[in-house]
Amino acid sequence: MTAKEFKTPISDKSILIGPDSGYDNIIFAIESSCDETAAAIVKNGREVLSNIVASQIKTHIEFGGVVPEVAAREHLEAINLVIAQAFEQANLTPNDITAFAATVGPGLVGSLLVGLNAGKALALAHDKPFIGVNHLNAHVCANFLNTDLKPPFIALLISGGHTQIIEVKNFLEQKIIGETIDDAIGEAYDKVARLIGLPYPGGVNLDKLAQTGNKFAFKLPEAKLQNEYDFSFSGLKTASLQLIQNLKKTFIELPKADIAASFQENVSSVLLKKTKKAADNINTKTIVLSGGVAANSEIRKKFFALQNNGYKVYAPEMKFCTDNAAMIASSAYFLAGTMDSLDVEVFSRM
Ligand code: KG4
Ligand code: ZN
Repeated sequence: MTAKEFKTPISDKSILIGPDSGYDNIIFAIESSCDETAAAIVKNGREVLSNIVASQIKTHIEFGGVVPEVAAREHLEAINLVIAQAFEQANLTPNDITAFAATVGPGLVGSLLVGLNAGKALALAHDKPFIGVNHLNAHVCANFLNTDLKPPFIALLISGGHTQIIEVKNFLEQKIIGETIDDAIGEAYDKVARLIGLPYPGGVNLDKLAQTGNKFAFKLPEAKLQNEYDFSFSGLKTASLQLIQNLKKTFIELPKADIAASFQENVSSVLLKKTKKAADNINTKTIVLSGGVAANSEIRKKFFALQNNGYKVYAPEMKFCTDNAAMIASSAYFLAGTMDSLDVEVFSRM
C-alpha cells in the first residue's frame, strides 16, 4: 500500500498521506537547496495548483557561479513572499493544506535551512504534518506532474550535483544502478562552458550555442568503466581543455559553437547508450529523464527519438526540470525519499 501515517505536531492526530490514503491530499512544498527559492501546492502528487520560483541567477551572474552565503541570504529575503504567492496563486489558505513539505538535502546547508525551517514553522503553526523530502527523489517525481506515469521505469537523473541511472521498481523502491565516479554532468557542462568563455549559468548557455555549431567537428573521448552504467566526465573536461588550448594556437577566433556542439554530442550519446542498455537489461520500455540537465535540447531530442523504437520516454516540462517546489510536493505525496518528523536535519551530500 502506498500510504503512510504522519502525525500532526500539536494535537498528535494521525493523518494518512499517499495515493492509497483514500482522500485528496493537498501538499504545500518548499524548495531552497541551491539558487532557487520556490513554493508550490500540488493535489494528489500530479495536479499543480500553484508553482512559484524566485531565481537568484541575476545575483550570482556577477560572481560567475553560486556563492553559498549570498544564496542563503537571498533565500531569507524571498521566502515569505514566495510562500504567500503560492497560496494566492492556488487561491487556498493554510487550512486547505493536508501537509507541509520541504527539501532536506542534498544541497547547500545554509540555503536548505531557510526552506526547511519555513516548512516546519508552517506545519507547527497550522498543526499539520511535516514531510522532509530528498531533493534527488523529487527530481524523478517531477515526471509525475501533469502525467499518468507509473513505475516500473528506468530514470536518468542528470543535475548540477548528480548523474545517476535509477531503477524505479515501485513508488517506494528505487535502486541506483549507475552513477558518476567523478564530476556530475551539470558540473561538466558548467566547467566546459567556462572554458569556452560563456557566462553563468553555463549549462543552458552552452546548450544554446551548441545548436548553432557542427556536432561532428571534434571527436572527444568516452571513458571506459568497469560498471557499464557508471559515468566519468573528468577526462572529457581535460580533453576539452586541451582541445581549446590547441585550437587557440591555430585559430584567431575560437570555434566556440563547434566545441560546444561536439561536447554536447559526446555527453548526450553516452547518456543515451547507457540508459537504453539499463532499460533493455531490466526489460522495461519506459525511460524517464530528470534533473536540470534534462532541460537540454540535444539530450531531449536523442531520448525522445527512442519513441520511434517502441520506448515510452518521459521528461518533465521545462519549468519542472530545474529546481522547483512542485516536484517536492509530488515526492512527498508518493512518499519517495521522505523523512517524517519535525526533528529532521538538513544534509549537504548523499
Ligand atoms: O537540477 P538542477 O536545477 O540543480 C541541481 O539539483 O543540481 O540542475 C542544475 C544544472 C546546472 O549545472 C545547469 O548548468 C544545468 O543543470 N542545466 C543545463 C541546462 N539547463 C540547466 N545543462 C545543459 N543544458 C541545459 N539546457
Ligand atoms: Zn536540483
